[in-house]
Amino acid sequence: MSAEPAFLALAAHLKRQNYTFICPTPESHGKVVAKRIQDPERQDVKNLEDLFGWSLKADRNTIDRLLSLELLKQLLEASIIIHAESEDRFKSEYRLSNLYLPHIQDGTSVPQMYYIHSAFPTTQPDAVFFGPDTYLFLDFLTQASRYLGTNPRRAVVDVCCGSGAGAIHMARSLPSSTVIGLDLNPKALALGKINAKLAGCQVDFAESDLFAAVKSREDIDLVVSNPPYIASSEGSDVPMYAAGGAEQGLALPLRIVSEGIQVLAEGGLLMIYTGLPVFYEKPGHDPFLQRIREVEGAELVAYRIIHPDMFGEELSSPPYADTGRIQVVGAVMRRMRR
Ligand SMILES: C[S@@+](CC[C@H](N)C(=O)[O-])C[C@H]1O[C@@H](n2cnc3c(N)ncnc32)[C@H](O)[C@@H]1O
Repeated sequence: MSAEPAFLALAAHLKRQNYTFICPTPESHGKVVAKRIQDPERQDVKNLEDLFGWSLKADRNTIDRLLSLELLKQLLEASIIIHAESEDRFKSEYRLSNLYLPHIQDGTSVPQMYYIHSAFPTTQPDAVFFGPDTYLFLDFLTQASRYLGTNPRRAVVDVCCGSGAGAIHMARSLPSSTVIGLDLNPKALALGKINAKLAGCQVDFAESDLFAAVKSREDIDLVVSNPPYIASSEGSDVPMYAAGGAEQGLALPLRIVSEGIQVLAEGGLLMIYTGLPVFYEKPGHDPFLQRIREVEGAELVAYRIIHPDMFGEELSSPPYADTGRIQVVGAVMRRMRR
């Protein structure tokens, strides 16, 4: 049975209740949950944010207070909420977060939109990512849209799209373009379809190892990406959503740049948001910038630091022995004449 109707009913209920949840980093989320669990007065769900944001457990009385019987039945049948018989507690398998950080634009508050992703902790290999990185990625895409000019963009590809945040943002910004979201994780793509529906836009999702599913297209005018960028090796316990591979996590982002430039039509743009290690003995050296400058057929249009010190908790792992900080950057590149 499709979980979509149950997710749509849940989102409608949350909207009516003015639900707000801004997704924190895994580190902050873990600290909050640990504080709550240590305190018998506060360890259980008190409100909708505790259940669908903080991934805490609810007792039967609280769940009956927060959800109608009909909605609870729908959520249990779709395995969105799980009932642990042994402790008679209910837990959500998913989180719903605000897709955008609340802000005011042209004097008007930007409307609330919800986005579904995995519950905390995201330890399963196929956990579906969303977090502060995604908020910064969408903000980067908003800033970088000034480079799009007035030319229509035929096809737009979000590679490593996860459950679709970048693709959804582009589909909302460029409604006449065909927007394609590519990811290896089928669970993320299934949520992506529902997230696009929640945002009221059309995105075509496809399971694909990087650009494999779009290699034969000749109409790609824009590639966007927030790929995994944490150092990882074969068999390491870094989840798929974070594992950037060799070269302290630079391997995958660098492949996205070189292969992304190849799939773009002439004049097309690539916008990548990613992280890189800054070695403490070489504080002014940016190994990502150095490498993307050498990519054949590409012109670097813009480059900026978005966050100077992201995921500091990773620095104690062996691949980061020489790293002082993980810097997040945004690059815009143009495909030159073939
Ligand atoms: C950090 S998450 C980002 C998700 C989304 N772009 C966002 O901003 O929320 C990285 C995503 O890359 C996907 N991924 C990892 N390796 C991939 C590959 N070789 N091809 C396609 N997707 C991949 C993961 O499954 C994960 O969904």
